[in-house]
Amino acid sequence: MGYDNINYEKIEYYSKPMTLEEENELLKETIAHLRRELEKFKRPPLIVGNVVEIVGDENVIVQINTGKFYVDVIEELKGKLKVDDKVLLDQKSLSVIRVLGKEKSFDVSGFVVVERPKITWDDIGGLEEQIREVREVIELPLTHPEKFERLGIEPPKGILLYGPPGTGKTLIAKAVAHHSNATFIEVVASELVQKYIGEGSKFVKSIFELAREKAPSIVFIDEIDAIAAKRIELGTSGEREVQRTFMQLLAEIDGFKPLSNVKIIAATNRLDILDPAITRPGRLDRIIHIDKPNYNGRLEILKIHTKRMPLSKDVDLEEIARLTKGMVGAELKHLVVEAGYFALRNNRSKVKMKDFLDAYKKIKTRKKEKMTYEVSYL
Ligand SMILES: Nc1ncnc2c1ncn2[C@@H]1O[C@H](COP(=O)(O)OP(=O)(O)OP(=O)(O)O)[C@@H](O)[C@H]1O
Ligand SMILES: [Mg+2]
Repeated sequence: MGYDNINYEKIEYYSKPMTLEEENELLKETIAHLRRELEKFKRPPLIVGNVVEIVGDENVIVQINTGKFYVDVIEELKGKLKVDDKVLLDQKSLSVIRVLGKEKSFDVSGFVVVERPKITWDDIGGLEEQIREVREVIELPLTHPEKFERLGIEPPKGILLYGPPGTGKTLIAKAVAHHSNATFIEVVASELVQKYIGEGSKFVKSIFELAREKAPSIVFIDEIDAIAAKRIELGTSGEREVQRTFMQLLAEIDGFKPLSNVKIIAATNRLDILDPAITRPGRLDRIIHIDKPNYNGRLEILKIHTKRMPLSKDVDLEEIARLTKGMVGAELKHLVVEAGYFALRNNRSKVKMKDFLDAYKKIKTRKKEKMTYEVSYL
């Protein structure tokens, strides 16, 4: 380096006082710049959409909040758009004027449970017939698809478990995932609707992407009635959004093959309000009723939950099973835990029959109180 590179002409130019013409020129430039800035503020916002279909070089079909539209593409983007591109549209003409890039799929990993559950068939009392059916339509096709292929039969894509709360629906879904060595992806439909307003259908899509990625897998959709209830009118945008989520679910179910290694188990307490579209042939067409346990069921459930409990000799589980008519699995488990607490409070190392009877009384009165509360509340 040295002083050779210095541009003496430029120094001379800047150090010279400005002529009137030069000043005029500068002010004109400043005004033009400010005008351009002002124009920006006046311009309407652009609409964000997704490309769903390419129609030749000049047009595409885009999806925006209010529906699907067949639109133009500006000159410089012609032939360059791809399906799933996120794009900006002019408000009036809806022409695509910019690409924002490929739409990233929704990150579902933090919101759904993905695990290989530890629950086994031995942890479930009663329900032999239902378990046999679930194994036949979910476990067997996942573990031995060749048996079905050989016989040329198509197993259902999924099942619908229905019955009162606390009867073992979630348990069955987890146990079948365990025995099929499948990834268990749990989605609570009511949460889906509340948490992902406007994104429900995208979420459903991503769940099934995840399921295919982690196959063999079981997608467990709890409280399916939250998105699959019959609707008479679709008045509010919230209802339409739920409807869209439901449509996406149906599309996903229709989209995969019966012998693919993704299965769906849905659960509900309200079969009566379900949209029949979900149980149509080829969808969740196997409906399994998980009812309250009978005497034998209750006895088995009591045995399961007292397996690791030191019981005094006077404990008569058969008597307790007779006494607890009408109770479901969750309540029986609660009863066993309460009995354990009575023993604990009395500083005993074994649980006596009296503890069970006290626990039973306590639960019964609570249940009655709860029922009167609910009735008066209505
Ligand atoms: N058949 C059963 N055998 C053993 N335990 C049971 C049985 N049914 C329910 N339980 C106990 O009750 C708990 C709750 O059961 P689960 O979550 O499977 O009920 P659910 O039918 O899914 O109810 P909900 O409709 O409220 O979701 C279980 O974790 C288990 O401890
Ligand atoms: Mg459940």
